[in-house]
Amino acid sequence: MAATAIPSYNPSPRVEPLVQYRPLHPTFGAEATADFATITPDLVDEIKRGLAKYGVLVFRKTGLDDARHVEMSHLFGDLDDVAPFVSGLGQKNRLSSDYLFDVGNVNPDGSVMQPGTMRDLLLKCNYHFHADSAFNPRRAGISLLLAHELPPAHLGGETEFADTRSAYEDLSPDRKEEIKDWVVLNSQLQCRRNANTDKDGILDPLLDTDEFDPMKHRFGKHRLIQLHDPSGRTNLYIAAHAHHVEGMPIEEGQRKLKELLDHAGQPQYTFKVQWKDPGDLVVWDNTCVLHRSVPGGYAGKYKRDLRRTTVHDMGPQAWGLNGVGATWRSGLD
Ligand SMILES: [Fe+2]
Repeated sequence: MAATAIPSYNPSPRVEPLVQYRPLHPTFGAEATADFATITPDLVDEIKRGLAKYGVLVFRKTGLDDARHVEMSHLFGDLDDVAPFVSGLGQKNRLSSDYLFDVGNVNPDGSVMQPGTMRDLLLKCNYHFHADSAFNPRRAGISLLLAHELPPAHLGGETEFADTRSAYEDLSPDRKEEIKDWVVLNSQLQCRRNANTDKDGILDPLLDTDEFDPMKHRFGKHRLIQLHDPSGRTNLYIAAHAHHVEGMPIEEGQRKLKELLDHAGQPQYTFKVQWKDPGDLVVWDNTCVLHRSVPGGYAGKYKRDLRRTTVHDMGPQAWGLNGVGATWRSGLD
């Protein structure tokens, strides 16, 4: 009887995962590694899968520049842009693309933003936990923030994140029942005013005008409790932009919203990202985490040049209760 030939053994080539993850916190966030030399839809899909689980991904020394930052961002979905502000408000964009949001402290003329200037007052809102564009009719989904120039590490300027899926899960059953159908009216002006109100409740006179009065402008209406589709978990969509709750006396709603924002910002739900090198990229999903910029001694002295692309929420709740296709923007309404 002829011997049966032993099948030759052809091991499949070992395939490295496109992204590798190292958790940064017990419930969310990961430091991730990937090769950004070749940006492909497969890489972007894997980053999205990572975001569904971790909410925040930190990539070090990516080597990305403005052009490739924007090019990669397009693969994530529809991008928000600053063009309406450049044309509508006569602002100058010092950056190479209107898809780049200039969220650091560098003035259009290249100088370091000085404390007390109007731009400084407006950007103080970013020191409070928020979700990008909660105040617009179509909210932000994924944000991609790339470092270009950084202050010395010991002078602050970290970005802190908060896990709003875990914060929701930890609410009592009674609280979940109370808030389950709330609709929140969000305003960028609310955040800017709160950020410039002192401990005695006195608003900086520069913002005590109709131009900065939330009640004289439109609100971005979104449900407070939402299914986070990519993970199947429930999210608490609260932000420093939250102004009041639909159908509730304004002051009562503001008090209850502040309680929820304070709850989500507790230490057990948060961690800080220390920016280390130009090329560091932090990517997050605004529909399941909050973020804020941490103030520090670098202000007025050193550049903190961070540039953000913003992917519109591509999910079914992107437009909230603002009407699908609404084109107005906060600050231009
Ligand atoms: Fe932001």
